[in-house]
Amino acid sequence: MTEEALPEGIVPIEGPLPGFRVETAAATGVVYLNGAHVAEWTPAGHKPVLWMSGSSDYQPGRAVRGGVPLVFPWFGGGPEGDRVPAHGFARLATWHLISAAVSPKGTATLRFGLDGPQVTDAVADSFTHDYGLEMHVSLGETLLQQLVVVAGDEELAFEEGLHTYFAVGDVRHTHVEGLEGEAYFDKVTGSCATQEGLVTITAETDRIYESASNTRIVDEAWGRTIQIEKVGSAQTVVWNPWVDKSRTMTDFGDDEWPGMLCVETVNSREQSITLAPGQRHLMSQTISIL
Ligand code: BG6
Repeated sequence: MTEEALPEGIVPIEGPLPGFRVETAAATGVVYLNGAHVAEWTPAGHKPVLWMSGSSDYQPGRAVRGGVPLVFPWFGGGPEGDRVPAHGFARLATWHLISAAVSPKGTATLRFGLDGPQVTDAVADSFTHDYGLEMHVSLGETLLQQLVVVAGDEELAFEEGLHTYFAVGDVRHTHVEGLEGEAYFDKVTGSCATQEGLVTITAETDRIYESASNTRIVDEAWGRTIQIEKVGSAQTVVWNPWVDKSRTMTDFGDDEWPGMLCVETVNSREQSITLAPGQRHLMSQTISIL
């Protein structure tokens, strides 16, 4: 799609990474071609919903620290913990724009594609399968993201995630509803547990919940509730690095952890997806302010 063909309300940008700025009556936002990465989404009348680190590295081929990085084809270091780059290469690769449209109410929809064989060996030398990815992003009163994975001529096994960084007033006065009674794997302690009551953040938190349920982030400091509805995802990851881990990350400010919380739409480990040749899988999330 050529830049001339972009509808009113969507303009190309070159920095800090190439992509598109959305400015309509319904919302403003930014999406980069690097990783089909939603970097900003602010529905009209609200504060920004997505968090972005002031220390993020905006080099092509490097992960952006904030917004919604895409996880594919492995989560973290993969099922055995030995895969690099962390969280796979989809967030590092340069996607292409398939189409762009703006509805009469101002919802901007951008469709991006990534063809497996075109991903350079520099980022994907250990994953030589044939596959295609599509990312549909609609920025309006809600933020809708649909990740579609299509297998090529052979069976395709993968992990995936929409690794959403939410902006909150103070994570110490924020809780997550919808995971009560769900089993989780605690990556900090390496043990399994069951969630008792609401999820609160009182220390480094890195948990994979076995849950297909919708969740709500209740932010007391800013007095807002964010709803995350999901389809095709069997797990929710909740992550905040807290004090010590923040200091180990060069692209994350030491004092930024109170202002963010990741609630991620995921299929990993035992919930990895295996597609037969030619089959497709859709995982989506819809984020709204209640
Ligand atoms: C989370 C993981 O999804 O992402 C954490 O559960 C990880 O273990 C975090 O630290 C950030 O990952 P990265 O690769 O973007 O630094």
